[in-house]
Amino acid sequence: MSNPSLLILAGDGIGPEVMAEVQRIIAWFGDKRGLKFDVSEDLVGGAAYDAHGVPLHDDTMAKAQEVDAVLLGAVGGPKYDVLDFSVKPERGLLRLRKEMDLFANLRPAQCFDALADFSSLKKDIVAGLDIMIVRELTSGSYFGEPRGIFIEDNERVGINTQRYTESEIDRVARAAFELARKRSKKLCSMEKANVMESGILWRDVVTEVHADYQDVELSHMYADNGAMQLVRAPKQFDVILTDNLFGDLLSDCAAMLTGSLGMLPSASLGAPMENGRPKALYEPVHGSAPDIAGQGKANPSACILSFAMALRYSFDQGTEADRLEAAVEKVLADGVRTADLMQADGGAPVSTSEMGSAIIAALDASL
Ligand code: IPM
Ligand code: MG
Repeated sequence: MSNPSLLILAGDGIGPEVMAEVQRIIAWFGDKRGLKFDVSEDLVGGAAYDAHGVPLHDDTMAKAQEVDAVLLGAVGGPKYDVLDFSVKPERGLLRLRKEMDLFANLRPAQCFDALADFSSLKKDIVAGLDIMIVRELTSGSYFGEPRGIFIEDNERVGINTQRYTESEIDRVARAAFELARKRSKKLCSMEKANVMESGILWRDVVTEVHADYQDVELSHMYADNGAMQLVRAPKQFDVILTDNLFGDLLSDCAAMLTGSLGMLPSASLGAPMENGRPKALYEPVHGSAPDIAGQGKANPSACILSFAMALRYSFDQGTEADRLEAAVEKVLADGVRTADLMQADGGAPVSTSEMGSAIIAALDASL
């Protein structure tokens, strides 16, 4: 049997430098654990625009559909702010999500003990935090029609449409219930059923799906209250299920609970392919950080932890995923810090590649 295939789309800004560390980790698993991958690379975002005039070439899209998993770095940068909306770097990422039909976006927010002091919240509120946001990723107001800027009565009108079908809600709800089942069997669904019909339907369908998951405790919350509860008492949650736009906001909010955006991975999963693996794209939650790009300052942990999610969700290598996550945790516990994790009196930060080397040393020590 051939090796499983990975397509690496490093993208823009700090994407290439954090992805270089992921490449070293992939090589480590090949050498030391016999887990070999066929890795190919291509362009996305501004990098693709510079080469092809589009943020995602059709050939790259076709490749993404064929591989076992896509690993993405980051897209965007100030250089591309002037581009037309249709070719902005973000459109490349949104096209991948839509055409691969990656409807379930898993965004864990986990507060590593060594970093509990970094959160803007009090330590006891976040210490030990381990929640999972499941964000619907292929529909809702990001994609609903009609959309656009139109002229009505001699003025411009900007329109986006929040639209969800029953089946779209049903499938992401099932993904969230399945996850909740493997965790602490608690699911909180967030919408705005008090003001939006799409929220009423969301609540109805999630409640219907619950009939198949009676062992999971289901609660519903208005998304604005959810945002408030996330900063008031985040540990009340385990799995949170929400739509595309609310999930965008709530996941950034949850990310900051953990201290640094530089630590957070994500998985975007679709339906199973012929080989039984889900269509999948893994990416850090952070962006392209143009202010520090190319300086070797970026924290590669989020991107490395995204590869750990790939091991777990695409390749059924939960034990190896645990090993990689434990290595990152060990490095943090040892006090190794990239610049994003420095406190005022914290000594000298390590570089991106030094962080990668420390994680590899911790992996070696785990054998
Ligand atoms: C995210 C990002 C994206 C989104 C952007 C880059 C299109 O904010 O993944 O959360 O809005 O979904
Ligand atoms: Mg976002």
